[in-house]
Amino acid sequence: MPKILLGVSGGIAAYKAVEFVRLATAAGHSVRVLMTASARKFVGPDTFEGILGAPVLTSEFERDPMRGTFPGDELPEHDPIGHLAVVESADAYLIAPASANTLAKLATGQADSIVTTSFLACEAPRLVAPAMNNRMYEDAATQENLATLRARGIDVIEPDEGSLASKGEQGVGRLPDPAELLRRVESALGGEDSAAAGDLSGLKVLVTAGGTREPIDPVRYIGNRSSGRMGFALAERAAARGAEVTVIAANVSLATPTRVTRVDVQTTAELSAACFTRFPESDVLLMSAAPADFRPLVRSETKLTRATEGISLDLEPTDDILAALSANRGPGQTVIGFAAEHGGDAETRASGKLERKGLDLIVLNDVSKEGIGFDSTENAVALITADTLEEVERAAKTVIADRILDRAIKLRQDEPVP
Ligand SMILES: Cc1cc2nc3c(=O)[nH]c(=O)nc-3n(C[C@H](O)[C@H](O)[C@H](O)COP(=O)(O)O)c2cc1C
Repeated sequence: MPKILLGVSGGIAAYKAVEFVRLATAAGHSVRVLMTASARKFVGPDTFEGILGAPVLTSEFERDPMRGTFPGDELPEHDPIGHLAVVESADAYLIAPASANTLAKLATGQADSIVTTSFLACEAPRLVAPAMNNRMYEDAATQENLATLRARGIDVIEPDEGSLASKGEQGVGRLPDPAELLRRVESALGGEDSAAAGDLSGLKVLVTAGGTREPIDPVRYIGNRSSGRMGFALAERAAARGAEVTVIAANVSLATPTRVTRVDVQTTAELSAACFTRFPESDVLLMSAAPADFRPLVRSETKLTRATEGISLDLEPTDDILAALSANRGPGQTVIGFAAEHGGDAETRASGKLERKGLDLIVLNDVSKEGIGFDSTENAVALITADTLEEVERAAKTVIADRILDRAIKLRQDEPVP
């Protein structure tokens, strides 16, 4: 039975940790909970203990009645040092919610609570789920602490965007749903083994992500608002499900998901070249990048100076990479496109694109809807084939990614590859 250690720090979202414990135990995991002193101001240990039937550890100086074991384990005769023993038995350690304060301590290696002390001593996969006000989250200190943790191999579960606890405030900082947290922990638990046994194992998946930039001069460009979050979610989930994944990232500032090969590009021409190099050996192409449709006809070699009367830019169309790749596809290759359409008859336009470019599936997201699409952690899409349309309701991009990958598998099953 997999053993999950959950650290809870002091934030409003601590109540969601209770639901996480309920879901994790219902899914057959054995769970122990550690809490900071501040966390206890938001939710009481008794609540966790009631669900777990096991004591919660709130201080590194108290004896652990379970001697570092997890529910279901036999008690050892020897009474070990609690915070060291409990991490030795754990298969994964998640801190959720991870407060700004606790993240800062983890980044600098401080060990002043049972949560932070145990974190340092833990050799199992470690995950943190930051949750806080958007200004606290976006502050350079928090971002640097997260970058430090990522660089040390700690899995940072990105917070969701939406309404925050403080009245009337919106932004990035919400703790993802407990079900999503559990999915991430399970992914970490499985590691290489579960990937190897995943339903995409043996497949080579090529994902494009982000938005291309077409230079006007050495400092300016024509670009778009695509952040690459959807593409990176696809790459992450495809790799977790066993695929050999390459992501071609056009100006993406996100961390590369585990077990994913990354190729960075800037312009549409570079994206095209990278795609043509890697597409022939790929089984599935997920073209989620937003390439610029036009580029300046002439790129100035020097920075254009401010012109009082304004300037005109002549634009020329770029190559349609997806149509060209699709036209060159070999037997057994599945080609999936993405359409970011703005209101109106979005479905008709997406279907037209599907047919024109000879795609197997097109993923439509209507970017006129608030809170989804570009630079958001959530999305809501329609999956359109020549004869089906499936709506996928608003959810985390990783959840949407799984639905898209499910469809890719089904498409390949429906049309067996030679
Ligand atoms: C009402 C209230 C809500 C808070 N919510 C959060 C939060 O969501 N995220 C966060 O990082 N800090 C939040 N804080 C601040 C932390 O509780 C505070 O920084 C504390 O020292 C964290 O301690 P810990 O990291 O040891 O748990 C909140 C404080 C209060 C009073």
